[in-house]
Amino acid sequence: MTDSASAGGSERYETIEVERAVPVALVRLNRPQALNALSTQLMEELLDALRRLDRDEEVRAVVLTGNGRAFAAGADIREMAERSAVEMELEDRFATWDAIRSIKKPLIAAVNGYALGGGCELAMMCDIIIAAETATFGQPEIAIGVIPGAGGTQRLTRAVGKSAAMEMILTGDPISARRALELGLVSRVVAPEVLLDEALRLARRIAERPPVAVRLAKDAVNRAFETTLSEGLAYERRNFYLLFATEDQKEGMRAFMEKRPPQFRGR
Ligand code: CAA
Repeated sequence: MTDSASAGGSERYETIEVERAVPVALVRLNRPQALNALSTQLMEELLDALRRLDRDEEVRAVVLTGNGRAFAAGADIREMAERSAVEMELEDRFATWDAIRSIKKPLIAAVNGYALGGGCELAMMCDIIIAAETATFGQPEIAIGVIPGAGGTQRLTRAVGKSAAMEMILTGDPISARRALELGLVSRVVAPEVLLDEALRLARRIAERPPVAVRLAKDAVNRAFETTLSEGLAYERRNFYLLFATEDQKEGMRAFMEKRPPQFRGR
């Protein structure tokens, strides 16, 4: 894949790499010597890249992966070790993490190795997780005297249920990709050598779909984690009706009736 310059440029980043291969893009976490530990700089660069790709009309889905042995082995312990609680509060270091929630395009995590602590939490912030057979997932924070701080207690519990989440978070012990599949944390497990191809294929499949519908579908599914069933159903209904204001809805339904492939324009 090429064309990284028009993504806003990998050259502007030190800790990530961005490859734009429209209609998709690939972002690689790139601190392999530290197992892609999620430093402040890395998270700021990641958020900047994702925001640029979110505004890029030609990019319709983004794959996030890690270079080397890890997806990410967590927040950067070296950066945090000697901080006081007040410094942590004033730094507001998870603000960049929280901002990833505002990305509207589909994010697919292709987890190649360790997804631990913040790495597991970052994968769970994505919309779909695909794992290599060699991947491991865990929330090991308890072993270093803390607890997950970037959503692990909340998102893992919603993803795998209370008992499995408690086991992982209270012991800190990791689980295999197969176990993550059984628990519903990931949607597929594939051989490591085809992980990126599979993730990019999935991204391109989503990219064939009408972008406004994809955007409102992601929005509605995410709402399921925030609200009651009745409110969620009403929210879904509003997004459903809103899509009747798009050219792509007219095109999609007309193409079906005319027995031809649709030509979606993202309008
Ligand atoms: N932060 C900073 N550096 C890290 C790191 C992290 N989270 N994880 C690994 N590294 C560094 C190591 O310090 C080491 O650097 P040096 O070569 O300079 O010593 C390098 O990456 C390679 O790591 P190891 O030598 O430890 O590799 P290993 O194969 O022996 O072990 C591992 C791999 C089991 C993943 C181990 O590195 C490990 O346990 N890492 C920490 C995992 C962890 O506790 N993550 C949670 C962090 S806290 C958090 O994420 C809070 C939150 O909720 C946001």
